[in-house]
Parts: sequence; C-alpha cells; structure tokens
Amino acid sequence: MPNAYISGTGGYVPPCVVTNDDLVKRYGIDTNHEWIHKRTGIEERRYADEGVGSAEMGYEAAKVALARAGLSARDIDMIVLATLSPEHHFPGTGVFVQRRFEELFAGDSPKYVPAMDVRNQCSGFLYALGAAAAMVQSGAMRHVLVVGTETHSAAMDFTTRGRAVTSLFGDGAGAVVVSATDEPRGIRTWKLHADGRFAEALWMPIWNVRRRPFVALPDGPEGDARIPADDLWPRMDGKQVFRHAVEKMCMALMEVCFEQQLTASDIDLFVFHQANLRINEYVAETLGIPQDKLIKNIQKYGNTTAATIPLLLWEAEQTGRLRPGMKVAMVAFGSGFTWGAAIADW
Ligand code: ACO
Repeated sequence: MPNAYISGTGGYVPPCVVTNDDLVKRYGIDTNHEWIHKRTGIEERRYADEGVGSAEMGYEAAKVALARAGLSARDIDMIVLATLSPEHHFPGTGVFVQRRFEELFAGDSPKYVPAMDVRNQCSGFLYALGAAAAMVQSGAMRHVLVVGTETHSAAMDFTTRGRAVTSLFGDGAGAVVVSATDEPRGIRTWKLHADGRFAEALWMPIWNVRRRPFVALPDGPEGDARIPADDLWPRMDGKQVFRHAVEKMCMALMEVCFEQQLTASDIDLFVFHQANLRINEYVAETLGIPQDKLIKNIQKYGNTTAATIPLLLWEAEQTGRLRPGMKVAMVAFGSGFTWGAAIADW
C-alpha cells in the first residue's frame, strides 16, 4: 500500500483588503475594531470582486499547488473540492475548477478527470484530505488535487443585524496535491466526526426542498420568489459554536495523538482551523501546546472556512515554518457540527 503525502501546496487570496474599520466606513455596520479584535483576533479580511467566485479562486490556488508539486494538470487523477460557498445549487464547484484546466481537453485525447464536491464547512478540507488520502493509499489514484475555496462575501448580511457573523468571515482559496509515495512519510492518520443535532447552530438555509416552492414565498410573476432575510443569511449561535469548538478540537487532537502514540511535544507544528483566535488559545492552553508551535492567519484573512488549513500550509512552507521531516497536526471544527484532525509526516 503506498503512502499518501502532500506533494504541493498553493493558495490565493483576492487583493481587496477590508479592515474592521472598513466594515463601519464602507458598509455602515455598527461595530468597531476593538470589539472584533478583542473577541476574535481578526484585523482584516479579503473580499473577492463581483464576478469572481469560488471556482476561479480555487483554480488559482490549484495552479500554484500543482506547480509546487512539479506536476501538470494532466497528472491529476481526481479533484476533491470543499466549499460552503459553491457557485451554484448544482452542479458542484469542482467541475468549474476542472474545466479551467484547458490542457485537460486540448488535443485528441481529453482527460476527463473526476471532480467531487465536499460540503463540510470549516472541516471540509480535512474531510477532503481524508478522502484523498484513502484514494491514494488504496492504489486507485496517484495524484488527487484537494481544493478548499470560499466566497463568503457574496452571501453575508452587511447590516448591523448580521455583524456577529459578517465580521468573522473572509474569502480565499487553498489547495494541496495528495500523491502516492513509497517513502516513509505522509498522512499517518485522520479522524472525522459529526453531530447533526446541532445542524441549525450555524447554518444558512436559503432554500428548503421539502417546501413547495422550495424558496420561501412566491412573489411577482410565476417562477419568481422572495427569500426572507432570516433564510437568506448565515445564522449562528456563537456561544454554542465556541463551546463545542473548544471541546471537540481538543478531543480530536487527543484522538489522533493517542492513535499514533504521540504527545503534544512530539508534534513540530499545529495547524488549527482559524475561526476565532480565542478558541485556538483555549485549545492550546488545555493541551499544553506552546504558542511557538502554532501558526495563524486569522488576523489578516478572518475565517476562510475550507480554505483555511491549505492556506496555512502553503504560507508555512513559504516562510520555512513547515519543512520536510516535520510532524504536523491539523484540526478543524465547524458547522454541522463537523470536526476532525489529521497527523502527517511532512
Ligand atoms: N461588533 C459589535 N458588537 C457585536 C458584534 C460586532 N461585530 N457582533 C455581535 N455584537 C454584539 C451583539 O449584538 C450583542 O449585543 P447585545 O448584548 O446588545 O445583544 C453582544 O455583542 C454580544 O454578542 P454575543 O454574540 O453574545 O457575543 P460573544 O461574546 O458570544 O462573541 C463571537 C461573538 C465572537 C462570534 C463568538 O461567539 C464566537 O467567536 N463564536 C464562535 C464562532 C465561530 O467559531 N464560528 C465559525 C465556526 S466555523 C464554520 O464552520 C463556518
């Protein structure tokens, strides 16, 4: 059985920087830098321009990851794309990334690379990584492109009513290539969990296909509909999310360490999902993880959901914080509730 290792990392964030003060000045939201920074650690985030979506940003990150892996698009055997902000109801965003790789379809022998979407929010990248690792370890695939990409800014409530959620999220994309190797390295374990009893603690309903019509209220010409603001925007019970995030991230990290017979001191780098700096501080304190083993990007990007962990990996490689031979622990918690952790030998 081959090992599955991360052969390349990539990232992309849109150029438009939105500071906490900009939320007040540009959008008229009743908030302030002190409130947001003190509770979350966020200083600014990026927003994609109108016309740019999750596929475009995901493609940019994927190109970087492929180049860093020394591969071309025709080497990819599978695309697994994680997002909570897909471009459309269907088809999934993975195919929109796939078709941007024009070389797949050039010449007489197109390569119809399969593309699969994962809808697991802030844990989406770890769900996708687990799926990719299993495909590679089974021998079914040699190179799986894993993309996490989010366009939160398109669907947030930019009024004071939505400030608790809107101040947290930013846009961006990250990608990794998971490849087969016979070397003793790669993804050693991954554990995933979910608790659907809390599905409504952080969700964005918009439509409900049990309802006829599936969007809320018919309004105007036949086929048109109006969606009430309550259904249109993300809703969150922040305190409940916070409490469960701390508990489940600790449990997930302990689970993977226990399985691998490791303690926190054996891990060289901890890559935590970035929803709130305070959540990560609690987790680190509870498990006795020193701050110098943590990396963060929440201060400049906010919560980029499925893009967060691959963006962190990409940045850490570039700055030299993440190097071959290191033992890396990744952990995430998010809407669903869903959560998970993984350990890799880099
Ligand atoms: N600026 C100013 N005031 C605000 C803001 C803001 N941006 N947001 C909320 N407030 C106000 C509220 O309206 C409320 O005012 P009120 O007392 O007059 O009603 C007050 O601040 C307290 O609000 P709470 O929601 O109780 O604030 P809390 O202390 O819980 O902090 C926070 C909110 C930062 C969102 C926190 O609950 C949190 O971080 N929770 C975890 C969130 C999270 O991790 N989400 C992502 C999960 S990942 C995924 O899958 C997408």
